[in-house]
Amino acid sequence: MELAGKKIVLGLTGGIACYKAAELTRALVKAGAAVQVVMTQGALHFITPVTMQALSGQPVFTDQWDGRIANNMAHIDLTRGADAIVIAPCSADFLSKLAHGGADDLLSTLCLARPHGLPLLVAPAMNVEMWENPATRRNVAQLQADGVALLGPAAGDQACGEVGMGRMLEAEQLLGEIIAAFQPKLLAGTRLLLTAGPTVEAIDPVRAVTNFSSGKMGYAVARAAREAGAIVTLISGPSALPTPYGVRRIDVRSAQQMHAAVMAQLAGQHVFVAVAAVADWRVANVSEQKLKKTAGGKPPELQFEQNPDILADVAKRADAPFCVGFAAESDHLLQHGAEKRIRKGVPLLVGNLGHETFGQEDNALVLFDANGHTELPRADKLTLARQLVAQIAARLPRAPQPSAPTAAPTPDASPL
Ligand code: C5P
Repeated sequence: MELAGKKIVLGLTGGIACYKAAELTRALVKAGAAVQVVMTQGALHFITPVTMQALSGQPVFTDQWDGRIANNMAHIDLTRGADAIVIAPCSADFLSKLAHGGADDLLSTLCLARPHGLPLLVAPAMNVEMWENPATRRNVAQLQADGVALLGPAAGDQACGEVGMGRMLEAEQLLGEIIAAFQPKLLAGTRLLLTAGPTVEAIDPVRAVTNFSSGKMGYAVARAAREAGAIVTLISGPSALPTPYGVRRIDVRSAQQMHAAVMAQLAGQHVFVAVAAVADWRVANVSEQKLKKTAGGKPPELQFEQNPDILADVAKRADAPFCVGFAAESDHLLQHGAEKRIRKGVPLLVGNLGHETFGQEDNALVLFDANGHTELPRADKLTLARQLVAQIAARLPRAPQPSAPTAAPTPDASPL
């Protein structure tokens, strides 16, 4: 229930993406939010208030002159006590209205009359030519200057048959962005690089040695860091997990590839978090052909050689960012964790009981630093990741940023 107790005013404007707003409403309600839907006349051509009322569980407002509110001031009352206004989908016309302070229907008037500090989040949805038109560019720039948070859009196939930027984000992505908007921006402007997932070390063209890491903890840290305002690059071993929205992901397979990718991305990073379960050894005698079973049943003789230690190699550089390591220990965690932090040369090491956490939804962490250790009790991995991000932010050599709800940066989702 990430949005428990939050009141969201959800505005729909005219666009085929209104069908995604139905899904978004369900997702918001499931996350615990109270959703007050307001629709423009344009939106009514695409979806009915009956649908939106059924999904939100609240009467829908469509008309400035709706007399259901006692003082007849829906444009004021609907946003008082709200935690955010979300416009999804936001048409090119409505974007223009917002940029120019137009107020000729309930939704635009309500946006103009919103209390100072009430976050306005806008999910554009329009044809690629409309999105790229200089007039829309100007409107978008104006909204950003006004502190309005843009959620997307994404590029891809459009309902009109054209292809390009202007698709509204999916409901799940919008939900994530709305949740992110409420997280404190503890890492605003910080560049954070991290590794996650397992590595896979080839034996022959079809076989490999790997481990049971799912990538869940690392992906949760990537998401939490981006929610906190960081610009995140995730270097991932093979994982079935979706890339957290707004995170740049680079895929690798082996430890050597991960090492090379980290070194290539290191310049300009402020924080490096090594969550990946890197294979300690790779096969030295990788076969170019698939190994065949022998008649005598003799197994192949594999020789191993040690992989480079990515974390230690980063930590020992003169220009090292703030380094955070993870340790999956099966026993004597307190002793091994403290020793490992010193051996790796990192200011912060995060211990977990590896065999208990791999693939699981929750975890329990122990943080080791120069002053001793701190326990983060068992919780789901995203909750722990947010706590870890706060711990990292508190240790960085700069003051934390204010925590106003706003969209986290999206380095590669928008051409702006
Ligand atoms: O030595 P150990 O594998 O237990 O260390 C775990 C920590 O070191 C993790 O943060 C892991 O991502 C990192 N590591 C690494 N390169 C390796 C082995 C581990 O970056 N080759």
